[in-house]
Amino acid sequence: MAFLLFNFVLLLSGFRFSLALQETPLQNVSHSGQINSNSVLVALLDSHYTELAELVEKALLLQTLEETVGKRNITIFAPKNEALEQDLDPEFKRFLLEPGNLKSLQTLLLYHIVPKRIEPHSWPKSAADSTHHTTLSNDQVELSGQDSSGAKFIGRAKVINPNAVNRPDGVIHGIEQLLIPRSVQQDFNNRRSLRSISAVKPEGAPEVDPRTHRLKKPAPPVLPGAPPVLPIYDAMAPGPSLAPAPAPGPGGPRHHFNGMRQVKDFIQTLVQYGGYNEMADILVNLTSLATEMGRLVSEGYVLTVLAPNDEAMAKLTTDQLSEPGAPEQIIYYHVIPEYQTEESMYNAVRRFGKVSYDTLRLPHKVVAQEADGSVKFGHGEGSAYLFDPDIYIDGRISVQGIDGVLFPPEDQSKEEKKTIKVATVKPRRGK
Ligand SMILES: *[C@@H]1O[C@H](CO)[C@@H](O)[C@H](O)[C@H]1NC(C)=O
Ligand SMILES: *[C@@H]1O[C@H](CO)[C@@H](O)[C@H](O)[C@H]1NC(C)=O
Ligand SMILES: *[C@@H]1O[C@H](CO)[C@@H](O)[C@H](O)[C@H]1NC(C)=O
Repeated sequence: MAFLLFNFVLLLSGFRFSLALQETPLQNVSHSGQINSNSVLVALLDSHYTELAELVEKALLLQTLEETVGKRNITIFAPKNEALEQDLDPEFKRFLLEPGNLKSLQTLLLYHIVPKRIEPHSWPKSAADSTHHTTLSNDQVELSGQDSSGAKFIGRAKVINPNAVNRPDGVIHGIEQLLIPRSVQQDFNNRRSLRSISAVKPEGAPEVDPRTHRLKKPAPPVLPGAPPVLPIYDAMAPGPSLAPAPAPGPGGPRHHFNGMRQVKDFIQTLVQYGGYNEMADILVNLTSLATEMGRLVSEGYVLTVLAPNDEAMAKLTTDQLSEPGAPEQIIYYHVIPEYQTEESMYNAVRRFGKVSYDTLRLPHKVVAQEADGSVKFGHGEGSAYLFDPDIYIDGRISVQGIDGVLFPPEDQSKEEKKTIKVATVKPRRGK
């Protein structure tokens, strides 16, 4: 057993390593070749087109663009910030920022860049003499003009700031709205059906021996929404445990499943999913917590983890995290001893209005209700939306991404000033 534990820690330290690796590529523009400080790319990152610049970084496109400007001039059509903020459909923006949709985000951004220099004086003067250009996304854009007003257009977007930036290797023209290539629009329209195909369908239900209160045989995955077989608190180390779980002695609990492996899998999935590194970090660092979860799953219990995303975690103050046992208490309040999927929770709140779920932080419950076509946990300021549904669902562990850190109601007055809510984009359920 000690060996198993040791192995587990080794595996986890492997994640720390890959976490660190994952974070490096964006930091430095000049890792391959050289980029001139007077490059149009450097200018873009320093410009007031901050929304576009941020997306280009998020989309991991800097290296590609760096290589392009090494070979030829480029023209960037830069939507004004508002076009990427309040003017943009929040659901579309959320779609673009989902790590699984990186390709769509890249296509969208590359659609705003033409691999040659287009100066304002060479712009078509009217709709009749419009010109077509192939963008870096391989789609065509049309430039046109209006001779009466002298206005310039790309597609339907008006050029509002021609030559906003002019550098030896390229030029930036400010435009009024985002350009959306057809393929990205289609990806967006198809998003729901893709998600439902990739979801794993859990089935079956575990059987308990009424005399021993133990599972009769390895439990098949339970239905979403099914109650746990036994009160999980019977199985939890007292506390909840804040110390490393003791290694079971000879004749200790029989392990039906490799719960450690499942916990490890979900942490890895969180890391790969992106945007949940803080949560993954805490689980990796606090091995006692992950060990306890693994042990419970090994014994046949099921868990739903409400994982706050990085933006939410970033709002936690050092005070909130530095009290002894505080991170554990926070995480335990985010673990529900039931197997729930987004669908089962959404159906429950739709049907019942408010639903309260037990948490591993006894005796506190977390309340959920339907809001804005999604599931909202908690009350008022300290509430969080189900933001990334079904990040991990294997029939025993379910991980649901949320956009806030939750606190029990009693703690809330205390926490109110350190507001935890970060939702800027309200998820909507597309049904
Ligand atoms: C960028 O990365 C390279 C190679 O890792 C390093 O030598 C260089 O100093 C870095 N430049 C900046 C501006 O950080
Ligand atoms: C970019 O355009 C300028 C001005 O037209 C030209 O002198 C320069 O050679 C071009 N750079 C590249 C890499 O083609
Ligand atoms: C996890 O541990 C690393 C290194 O010991 C530390 O830098 C990091 O802040 C810790 N993260 C959390 C969330 O405690």
